Amino acid sequence: MTLDTVVHGDCLAVLRQVPSETADLTFADPPFNLAKKYQTYDDRRGGEEYLDWCRQWLRELLRITKPTGSLFVHNIPKWLTRYAAFLDTQADFRHWIAWDALGMPLGKTLMPRHYGILFYAKDRRRQKFYEIRHPHRRCRKCNVLHKDYGGKKPGLHPFGPLVSDVWSDLHRIKHASRRAAHPCQLPETVLERLILMATDEGDVVVDPFAGTGTTLVAAKKLGRRYLGAELDAGYVAIARERLAQTQTASRIGDVWVSQARGMLVTIRDCDWPRLQAYYAIPAAAAAIETAPIVFDRRLAAVTALPSPAAESPAARRRKTA
Ligand SMILES: C[S@@+](CC[C@H](N)C(=O)[O-])C[C@H]1O[C@@H](n2cnc3c(N)ncnc32)[C@H](O)[C@@H]1O
Repeated sequence: MTLDTVVHGDCLAVLRQVPSETADLTFADPPFNLAKKYQTYDDRRGGEEYLDWCRQWLRELLRITKPTGSLFVHNIPKWLTRYAAFLDTQADFRHWIAWDALGMPLGKTLMPRHYGILFYAKDRRRQKFYEIRHPHRRCRKCNVLHKDYGGKKPGLHPFGPLVSDVWSDLHRIKHASRRAAHPCQLPETVLERLILMATDEGDVVVDPFAGTGTTLVAAKKLGRRYLGAELDAGYVAIARERLAQTQTASRIGDVWVSQARGMLVTIRDCDWPRLQAYYAIPAAAAAIETAPIVFDRRLAAVTALPSPAAESPAARRRKTA
């Protein structure tokens, strides 16, 4: 099986060619059965027919995931509850990540306000997992932190808090100019966060519904190997073109990071000891409440960067846990 490619074909046929326990991370963003206008796939099936099909590829994804690996599935809550009922019988539930992305009112319902990303470990005791951080959220005009940390200000992390299971900081691609010709293209930042959380450099990422190749692009940017399948020839061409334009270079020094428009979006907690050399950090942590720390590559040249071996014992324990 060749890695670092997008295969044009049906995902079930492609997955059946993949040896068991190949992938460190599998991510599926299937059609949601909402009558979306894809080029090739007909997104209108009977509910049970749709679920039966989903169970077939979920079974394959579990088979190809390593015992230390993770499986993520993106969909609307209606289908994720049914996926969970199936996955609970074969893997370990970790989280339901609520990706807060404003939807359209459907009438006589609550307005859908989030997509879900189900997060399962193939084996919870052996799973690879890294805590991650995102930058503090601030008032755009005055720079003050959104959240009131009260008496905990002296303990503020200079970069930002640990990421929770509600993601409100990553936006859907709203502008047509930033999106390829696909109705459901995901932002790379969502995939980069998952990849940083559950894999290491050189690990294998598999996406059976590659679409425009977002997962594969994120994997390539972060120095991971990848494999995708996609039914539609037009989307395959877009994915291949995006991959050809992508550099394996989303890092600062030797640390892989997720960034967008020149700003860091997600880092690993265990990487902070090395990344902090690039920031001027005020001595009083409370000062962070009113002013963000500023990134400057030149600072690293005057500060000795701690080597990975110099990480704090707590970070090392988390990494190996
Ligand atoms: C929700 S989209 C994925 C979008 C992707 N995450 C992106 O960011 O571009 C689902 C994709 O699955 C593809 N698809 C549908 N049935 C498939 C199948 N049986 N095998 C492979 N791909 C399939 C569709 O053509 C569509 O591009």
